[in-house]
Amino acid sequence: MSLNHLAQESSGAPLVQVEHLAMRFRLRGGQWIRPVDDVSFTIDRGEVLALVGESGSGKTTIGRLLLRILEPSAGRMVVDGRDITHIRGRQLAEYRRVAQMIFQDPFASLNPVKTAEDHLLFPVRKHRGGRPAEVSAVVDDLLTRVGLTPVAETRRKYPHELSGGQRQRLAIARTLAVEPRFLVADEPISMLDVSIRAGILKLLNELKRELGLSFLYITHDLASARYFGDRIMVLYAGKVMETAPARELVAHPRHPYTRLLLAATPGSSHQGALPETANIPPNLSESRQGCPFAPRCPLATEICHETMPAAEDVGSGHRVACHHLEA
Ligand SMILES: Nc1ncnc2c1ncn2[C@@H]1O[C@H](COP(=O)(O)OP(=O)(O)OP(=O)(O)O)[C@@H](O)[C@H]1O
Ligand SMILES: [Mg+2]
Repeated sequence: MSLNHLAQESSGAPLVQVEHLAMRFRLRGGQWIRPVDDVSFTIDRGEVLALVGESGSGKTTIGRLLLRILEPSAGRMVVDGRDITHIRGRQLAEYRRVAQMIFQDPFASLNPVKTAEDHLLFPVRKHRGGRPAEVSAVVDDLLTRVGLTPVAETRRKYPHELSGGQRQRLAIARTLAVEPRFLVADEPISMLDVSIRAGILKLLNELKRELGLSFLYITHDLASARYFGDRIMVLYAGKVMETAPARELVAHPRHPYTRLLLAATPGSSHQGALPETANIPPNLSESRQGCPFAPRCPLATEICHETMPAAEDVGSGHRVACHHLEA
């Protein structure tokens, strides 16, 4: 069976629709935090949405919610026409064929006592069935697709015999074994050697183009978000600050927080960032009010501390949540 059939399917609705998503956690001290707060977005078929924001802004939590590793406290998630917000049991098992996760640390996501082929034979057999020779041919296809050739040699290798980049390729091949439509890639290159990062991003880009896969690409790094993302969504303390087509966001950032992030990117030509008023960690407390960036924002006025601004459409698919857009 060809993996390419996915690319041919089309439908008008976005593949992923997220509305007013929220997640609250209770900390040990008893207080509640809300690291995902009223987040809405869509991802089209074959589209990559890059999710950027500093540590603790809720990126991984959104990824885990979308894969239904976590169940949201509020909101709604529809993927490929199915409401997955509260699914369980058999429906959740079926959903695992639609959506898969690529983790930051490929070593931790592979089994050290299994060979490369062991990692693929089981999911392929379970997903498609078929005679051993057919299953084996699919395993070869998967290894070829992720660039782990010659396949006969790779099949017998254990994770420790592969390089970091090869391990991530194997982990990616395993996610493809169930023919997913949607991948959440959570910092998939940040633990890899700088020299091999570009190769992995290129592979993900090929999977997007050739298989028509959609991605939520989670990263700290605006340069890679700009390269791989079709659109970029900027998160701060669980709230969406700004969303725009990738080039547009990098060329014309409107939100003070995005401007700050861009100015902090190595090699960036953006000198337009305003000085931060204070470098304090984001407040995730459930009782917080207003825009969460206000305590750090040089433009903040009274209203920012009181009310979260609604996202405003500024044209070209660019949306910004800021009371002081004119500034
Ligand atoms: N199960 C949990 N229980 C309590 N708090 C949690 C839980 N999971 C995440 N958090 C908290 O939620 C906040 C957001 O975490 P999250 O991992 O989503 O951030 P992130 O943007 O992925 O950060 P990083 O860039 O460091 O990976 C953090 O303060 C984290 O400690
Ligand atoms: Mg994370």
